[in-house]
Amino acid sequence: MSMTPPSATTDRDWWRTAVVYQVYPRSFADANGDGIGDLPGVRSRLSHLAELGIDAIWLSPFYPSPLADGGYDITDHRDVDPRLGTLDDFDALVTDAHERGIKVIVDIVPNHTSDQHPWFLEALRAGPGSAERRRYIFRDGTGPGGSEPPADWQSHFGGSAWERTDDGQWYCHLFAREQPDLNWDDEQVREYFLDTLRFWADRGVDGFRIDVAHSLAKDLSHPLRSQPDLDRVLPLDGSDPLYDRDEVHEIYRSWRKVFDEYDPPRMAVAETWTPTSSRTYLYGRPDELGQVFDFSLLKAEWHPDQLRTVISRSIEEHTSIGGAMTWVLSSHDVPRHATRYALPVGTDLDAWLSSDGTLVPLDPEVAARRARAATVLMLALPGSAYLYQGEELGLLEAADLPADVLQDPVHERTGHQLKGRDGCRVPLPWTPEGSSFGFGDNGSWLPQPAWFGAYAAAPQGGRAGSTLELYRQAIALRRSLVQDEHFAWIDTGDAEVLRFERSEGWQCMVNLSARPVPVPGQLLLTSEPGSEPGSETGRTAYAELSSEAAAWFRPAREE
Ligand code: NOJ
Ligand code: CA
Repeated sequence: MSMTPPSATTDRDWWRTAVVYQVYPRSFADANGDGIGDLPGVRSRLSHLAELGIDAIWLSPFYPSPLADGGYDITDHRDVDPRLGTLDDFDALVTDAHERGIKVIVDIVPNHTSDQHPWFLEALRAGPGSAERRRYIFRDGTGPGGSEPPADWQSHFGGSAWERTDDGQWYCHLFAREQPDLNWDDEQVREYFLDTLRFWADRGVDGFRIDVAHSLAKDLSHPLRSQPDLDRVLPLDGSDPLYDRDEVHEIYRSWRKVFDEYDPPRMAVAETWTPTSSRTYLYGRPDELGQVFDFSLLKAEWHPDQLRTVISRSIEEHTSIGGAMTWVLSSHDVPRHATRYALPVGTDLDAWLSSDGTLVPLDPEVAARRARAATVLMLALPGSAYLYQGEELGLLEAADLPADVLQDPVHERTGHQLKGRDGCRVPLPWTPEGSSFGFGDNGSWLPQPAWFGAYAAAPQGGRAGSTLELYRQAIALRRSLVQDEHFAWIDTGDAEVLRFERSEGWQCMVNLSARPVPVPGQLLLTSEPGSEPGSETGRTAYAELSSEAAAWFRPAREE
């Protein structure tokens, strides 16, 4: 094994203000022409990421996987899926990324394995009562002959969270049936993940994104407690049998000890999808993971009150625990934000997707305008920002993928009620023409819509007013501006115009109204295509900010 050196930086806190770019490896770039994105593909496109100016990439799972859930079903947590490359490819990617000043974060999936993981196969063979079964959550069924599931727990992907095995016992899977849940009361499970963290940290990775971080600790006491309805409001006090239990924090305190064995310490960010509450931020405590995804911005719609409320709450809650703030607009799990914001407030996204996007027509210009403004807003907020591949191109959701190409297990498990998440996972367009728009030489594992070419990366580079150039400018400027976590709202007297102050006196304004508003100062950046940021403005001759646009500026002296 060729070891990469640990990352060169000595900055322990780089992640607190980082711009992190999520790579969904199968959909980023395909180097060997088999239609599946791979690690050499990511490596071949590092210049795109370096020019974007991001601090780190987060790689969604690239581990060996039968792909029952896009790679979140893992058979070996310490290897690379042969379709995506080798460990040598991984090392080369880390080395090249570090040379360009880009850090690497990998995904850790500790709640479940694949049903093809050697442990699960051993558990099936070993039978009821065995130590092998103790690594998972096996139970006898209820009802006549044990033919009913042991509890009424529901899978996030639809249907029961229990599957019966050939010998009659049942196992728990909070996601697909191919993703059996691990038993975190088992010492071997705990050791396996501590060793997995060390394995990747030794290879030079700079941090970890922790999948469904809130569900590892479960109340498995007999009889199993009811958790009947995932849509109901969770108790949010640690009393739920499956989610966000107090004991889970002890696991992360033990992980922190591993992160701190390295210099600089490895960073971590928790993924938790319980409704955002004060408890969400606890995962980000400095003696635990340090950071937790705050999805409240991602869940907010294009509405001034919603945006103001979630930003205020997130900043207050994060500040109170000493963790670092995070902001997210898009990911591989939700419809792309350009699409979301173009739909009227209150649109049922699931229904809209199920209609192949026909339920409400989408105006791509509105989508672009609002998405650009939202990005300028997000990148002005204190803390770190997580971008999802393709958003820097202004990509929309591929809403009309035909049912027969869908791969997300959500589609099958909901009896085709929900379309699933494939629409945001369509392979990226790099060039306006050519085989799979430059993604690879031989098609793509999900079909790209014909309009994808219009969003290709290559022609956007260097083109004034393109979304890619906006991202580049904003990230570069942010690097020169953001120093600390100072944030203060400034009352604009207009409920539809948000304005806040950051460190060193620069400010951000977001105009959600239908009319232009004056910018009271010198423009540094605007989300408007074709505007000329940075031009001199006098004390009275202020620029105007169009409807549905955002700007960064230095306030005029009398402000
Ligand atoms: C969250 C991941 O982001 C998602 O893609 C996956 O399906 C579930 N966790 C299960 O691992
Ligand atoms: Ca490939």
